[in-house]
Amino acid sequence: MTTPTSGQTPGTPGKLWGGRFDAPTDTLVEAFTASIDFDRRLYREDIAGSIAHARMLARQDIIPAADAETIVAGLEAIRDDIEAGRFAFRSDREDIHLNIEAALAERIGPTAGRLHTARSRNDQIATDMRLFVRAACDEATGLLRALRAAFLDVADREAATIISGYTHMQHAQPVLLAHHLLAYEAMFTRDTERIGQTRARANVLPLGAGALAGVTFPIDRESVARDLGFNSVAANSLDAVSDRDFVVDFHSAAALTMVHLSRLAEEIVLWSTTEFALIRLPDAFATGSSIMPQKKNPDVAELLRGKSARALGNLMQALTLLKAQPLAYNRDLQEDKQPLFDTVDTLLASLAVTAAMLPALQFDAARGRTSAIDGFALATDLADYLAKRGVPFREAHAAVGALVATCERAGKTLIGLTLDEFRAAHPAFEADVLAIDLDAALAARNATGGTAPEAVARERAAARARLKAEA
Ligand code: ARG
Repeated sequence: MTTPTSGQTPGTPGKLWGGRFDAPTDTLVEAFTASIDFDRRLYREDIAGSIAHARMLARQDIIPAADAETIVAGLEAIRDDIEAGRFAFRSDREDIHLNIEAALAERIGPTAGRLHTARSRNDQIATDMRLFVRAACDEATGLLRALRAAFLDVADREAATIISGYTHMQHAQPVLLAHHLLAYEAMFTRDTERIGQTRARANVLPLGAGALAGVTFPIDRESVARDLGFNSVAANSLDAVSDRDFVVDFHSAAALTMVHLSRLAEEIVLWSTTEFALIRLPDAFATGSSIMPQKKNPDVAELLRGKSARALGNLMQALTLLKAQPLAYNRDLQEDKQPLFDTVDTLLASLAVTAAMLPALQFDAARGRTSAIDGFALATDLADYLAKRGVPFREAHAAVGALVATCERAGKTLIGLTLDEFRAAHPAFEADVLAIDLDAALAARNATGGTAPEAVARERAAARARLKAEA
């Protein structure tokens, strides 16, 4: 195919879209509309999309094959320049697309002008963003898996460690530390699933939608999708250029993951207090005070908790950005980038530091055991004991409640009471009640999902197998 080349573009000098303009852009407007300071981060995605597009144009005989080769070689050289720090990004060139296209024209001449055939920046940016979110999902998935492996390792190491379980932040029933840790592993497993679903929905090719209505050239979108590793081709051009659901999906999955990290962080802060004294913070994951020499502060955990606020705010930003936009593309959409980048960075850094810190936490098993029997934590087991001997549970509950009150007044605990003291509380108590202790209380909760050492061993094995099967 032969096409004439003029080498000249009319209109505002320096603007690739300047044909119909006579006057230059106001400098305030240039600064206000430019996105290159942040969307330069999409250079890899933008170049990959352009290379796939140029190759398809040649395959379809829309541009000469030799031109496509020149374009691809030029784009690869630009990528090398960017990666070597040799590329000068220019805000008078607005965004990543126009910076790369203008640099391509400088490098290969007017042939560069053929690249934007059958394409708009609208389907181009949607493609870049989908490639970016897909890559972020892959990184997040890898880090989530590493974090889950860390939980499983610590659960194995602490298989015998007992702590108090809480409801309302009051001592409730004893639990295994491993069981407590695996509760987080379960949350992060669901987070991994959500990130996987986000990836699947993002993995659809917008390119070929043009500005909004499709393009007039005989393009082959399926082959571009294959080249770029997309699973399918967006079926509606208006939706393809204007939809950012996949950005919201990522924010949503990331925000929930950050909330899970924040809950864990809150427990680490509590556990490291003098009052709890359940963990000792490793030096490598704590910081000191500039005035109080004795201090060792859980700043990493506090920052995890604090950084979750960013992810929540960014999710709200993305939803708000979309809510009043008519179809199809609007420049508002340019505002989708910085909050997304911020959430990606926050999430990845938070997952990595948590996975590194977790195995370094030193748990005080003796302290865990003492605190687990404090606060009458075996009261439910005593009520259950009576109920198993035919006493209606409500009557059993009342009898043990009264016994707790008696102990409290006498400064005693439920451990070490005599059989007579038990029988004074309820006549159905017999000698075997004296066998109810911490270990018996744990071992009794052996149905699936319970905290018995056997049940938790099964839980650990199942979680390990699930993680392995995913890889
Ligand atoms: N910088 C723009 C964005 O992020 C790229 C698309 C611009 N399209 C346009 N018609 N002005 O959305």
